[in-house]
Amino acid sequence: MTKQLLLGQTLGFSGNPLTGDWRDAVNVDSAGAVLIEGDRIAQIGPASALRAAHPDAPVTDYGDALISAGFVDAHMHYPQTGMIASWGKQLIDWLNTYTFPEEARFGDPAYADEIAGRTLDLALDHGTTTLTSFCTIHPASVDAFFGAASARNMAVIAGKTCMDRNAPDNLQDTPQSAYDDSKSLLEKWHGVGRAQYAITPRFSPTSTPEQLVALGALWAEHPNCLMQTHLSEQLPEIEWVQGLFPEARDYLDTYESYGLLGERGLYGHAIHLTPREIDRLREVGAAVVHCPTSNTFIGSGLFDLMGLAKAGLSIGLATDTGGGSSFSMLRTMAAAYEIGQLRGMALHPAQLMWLATEGSAQALHMSGKIGHLGAGAMADITVLDLASTRAISQRHARATDIWDALFPTIMMGDDRAIRDVYVAGKRRA
Ligand code: GUN
Ligand code: ZN
Repeated sequence: MTKQLLLGQTLGFSGNPLTGDWRDAVNVDSAGAVLIEGDRIAQIGPASALRAAHPDAPVTDYGDALISAGFVDAHMHYPQTGMIASWGKQLIDWLNTYTFPEEARFGDPAYADEIAGRTLDLALDHGTTTLTSFCTIHPASVDAFFGAASARNMAVIAGKTCMDRNAPDNLQDTPQSAYDDSKSLLEKWHGVGRAQYAITPRFSPTSTPEQLVALGALWAEHPNCLMQTHLSEQLPEIEWVQGLFPEARDYLDTYESYGLLGERGLYGHAIHLTPREIDRLREVGAAVVHCPTSNTFIGSGLFDLMGLAKAGLSIGLATDTGGGSSFSMLRTMAAAYEIGQLRGMALHPAQLMWLATEGSAQALHMSGKIGHLGAGAMADITVLDLASTRAISQRHARATDIWDALFPTIMMGDDRAIRDVYVAGKRRA
C-alpha cells in the first residue's frame, strides 16, 4: 500500500471539548506527522519518530501550517449555491422569493450536474471534505450530487427534498411519489462508494401528514439511513407549524408523531426549542445542527450551543448554504463564536475546530471515520496556512501559543487559508 508522510503542526481530538475541559480533549503537536497508507490515516505521531520508522515514505513538509481533519458540513443545500447572498428577506419570504424559483431550475439535469460539481469544488476550495446536502424534489438532482461526489471520491450524505404542499406546483411531489422516489434513490446510492442516503422531508410546513407518514415508514424500513429536516428556525415559522398541526404538542411533535424522530435524525437550526423538545432529542440521541451564518443572515436567532451541549445533545456545525452566507467552515466557526459572544460565552478555538470536524461527524454517526485526525480514519485532511493574508499574518506574528496562532485564521480566514486538501489520501491537484 502506498505510504506518505505529512509534516506540520497536527491537531486532533480524543474527547469532546464542549462537555469537558477542552485541554483534556485535544492532541496537538507542533512538530507532528500524519502517516497515510492508501486512503486511510495509519498513524499520528512526532515527525522525528514517524520519519525514522518510515524512511521510504515520501514526505510533504508543511512547516508550521496546521494539519487538521477535513471539515464536515452537516447541513447545506447544494441547489442554493447559485443564489447565495440574496438580499433582504426572512425565512418564508426568502424561500418563496429566491429559493423555490432557483430549485425549480433543477428540473434540468444538466443544470443540476453543473451546480453539483461547482458546489463540491467550492467546498474543497474551502477545506470541506464532506457535505450533507438537501437536493430538490427532482430525482435527477440527487443523481447529479452523488455522481459528482463519487467522481471526487468524497464522502457525502444527501437526499431528495420532499414537499407536497405550500410550495409552487412544479416543486411538489405526493406522499406516494416522495416514498417511491426516495426509496429507489436510496436503493441506488446508499452505501455505494462513500455515498449515504438521507431521507429528506424539507420541513413540516411543506409536507402533509400523509407525506410525513410515508417518509416515516420508509425510515422504519431503512433505519440505518439518516433523516434530515429543519426544526424551529424562526418564530413565524413555528406559529405557522402550530396552525398547520393544531394537535401537535410542539414543532418536534410534527415529526415525532409520524415516525420522523430517531437517533439518526438530523434537525437543522433548532434555535427556539421548548424543554420538552430538548428532552426528547436527548432521549432518542438525535442530533441538532448549528447553522450560524444562516441564523444571522436570515435573521433567525441565537442558537444555544452551550445550553444544548450541556443538556447532552449531539451538535453538528454547518454552512446551510445558501441561507448561510458563506461556503467556508472557517467563517462558520467565526459566526458560531460571535453568536456565542452574544449569549455571553466565548468558545475556545479547540471547541470551534471540534465542532467543524468531530462534532459534525458525530452528528452524522460517522465518528472515527471522517472528521478525525487519528489512526483508522479516512485520510480526508485539510492543511491550514495560519498566515494566509497580510491581516492574518501580522496578527499571527505575535501569537503566544497554537490557539492564539489559529484563532485569527478562524475569525478572518477564507479559502486563501486552505493550503492543501486530501480526499481519501489523495492530494487535491
Ligand atoms: N427551512 C425549510 N427550507 C429551508 C431552506 O432551504 N433553508 C433554510 N435555512 N431553512 C429552511
Ligand atoms: Zn437548511
